[in-house]
Amino acid sequence: MATNRTFTMIKPDGVEDGHTGAILDKITASGFRIVALKKTQMTVADAQEFYSVHSERPFYGELVEFMTRGPVVAAVLEKENAVADFRTLIGATNPADAADGTIRKMFAKSMGENAVHGSDSDENAAIESAFHFSAREMF
Ligand code: RTP
Ligand code: MG
Repeated sequence: MATNRTFTMIKPDGVEDGHTGAILDKITASGFRIVALKKTQMTVADAQEFYSVHSERPFYGELVEFMTRGPVVAAVLEKENAVADFRTLIGATNPADAADGTIRKMFAKSMGENAVHGSDSDENAAIESAFHFSAREMF
């Protein structure tokens, strides 16, 4: 069956807490192939653009502040049914609601500081991957 791609970031809380290796291990053990990978720190303008869909939401300012407070680990991942399967692997936005064994259940602290991002559609996966990586950084 054809594979497709999704985009993820280990958020600043996950990196600060030293969970980068464990989260990447969980991702690859779950059948995702790493297509691109880097540690980077977003500027305020980067985070505002990345999460622009949420610009009218009350948590937008807090989200931008959080996402820029330290480095993130960005990655493009490949698997059959990548977008939906990765959302299942990370679990609910609020870790209190996340299923056992999901990345957010294991590593997230709160609704805001929830360890990982996962694209919500194939279209957004492509947009978000291109935001962080050039074509010659994706293999
Ligand atoms: P993400 O985009 O980061 O993968 O998260 P998501 O789809 O599960 O959730 P989304 O609704 O897209 O929200 C984006 C991020 O904003 C923060 N948030 N805080 N305090 C709050 O009520 C609240 N709601 C959302 C979270 O960091 C969430 O992941
Ligand atoms: Mg989202």
